[in-house]
Amino acid sequence: MISPSTAMDGLAPSDQQDAPPSPLPTVIAIDGPAASGKSTVGAAVADRLGYLYFDTGAMYRAVTWLALAQGVAIGDEAAVTALAREAEIDVRPAGEAADGRQYTVLVNGQDATWGIREPAVANNVSQVSAYAGVRAAMVVQQRRLASRGRMVMVGRDIGTVVLPDAPLKIYLDASAAQRARRRWQEEQARAGQRSYEEVLAEVRRRDEIDSTRAVAPLRPAADAVIVDSTALTIEQVVAQVVALARGTCGLDAA
Ligand code: DC
Repeated sequence: MISPSTAMDGLAPSDQQDAPPSPLPTVIAIDGPAASGKSTVGAAVADRLGYLYFDTGAMYRAVTWLALAQGVAIGDEAAVTALAREAEIDVRPAGEAADGRQYTVLVNGQDATWGIREPAVANNVSQVSAYAGVRAAMVVQQRRLASRGRMVMVGRDIGTVVLPDAPLKIYLDASAAQRARRRWQEEQARAGQRSYEEVLAEVRRRDEIDSTRAVAPLRPAADAVIVDSTALTIEQVVAQVVALARGTCGLDAA
């Protein structure tokens, strides 16, 4: 389901035949709750359009991973913020790595691609990403990356805070039960140990923290197109976002 309904008006077949093709949006912002499929959809849309894909959640996970690795207490906001300011976080194309990764995450030169997906990181990342100083440090880097253009940037606050002028903003949603089911299936495929109920509890807990935090809470931008993927396949969502991109007038991003 897509709303507001007017968002699809420009996609009627007759319009597509008559109107000249619009330039693609310079940047596509995709936000949404945990396990809504943002990463998979974002990567596929980027691939389809020949754009770079950038997952900002990986940056908050990288800071969390670093704090845990260095024994910095997650509750120590000043220490975690100092770590975030100094950390060199690099998110690169997967290159030759053939282990299912979408991209490679380097933290101070160390490969943390799978480390940032560990349950210990997932359990602490919402707290880290609620720190204003951590967010400020990450947002500077995210804007710099987006200024190069031709990028699909995925996160929680891309449309509301990081790139409020992005020409196309998608808010990808799905029911908590459906999101937990997808995440649990992914984990099972990687021989994960958690039960579906545990994954659902984590999804709900993270929804609560992400949407009620004081700084940059999770919510759709006023001009975001809301896509509810509960009853859609990934391919259907990707096709909708690509269609929206092709029907959107390109404006300069922030
Ligand atoms: O999308 P993800 O599960 O990898 O995100 C990890 C955490 O980072 C999650 O708690 C929300 C937070 N996050 C955020 O606050 N802002 C972003 N732009 C991206 C992620």
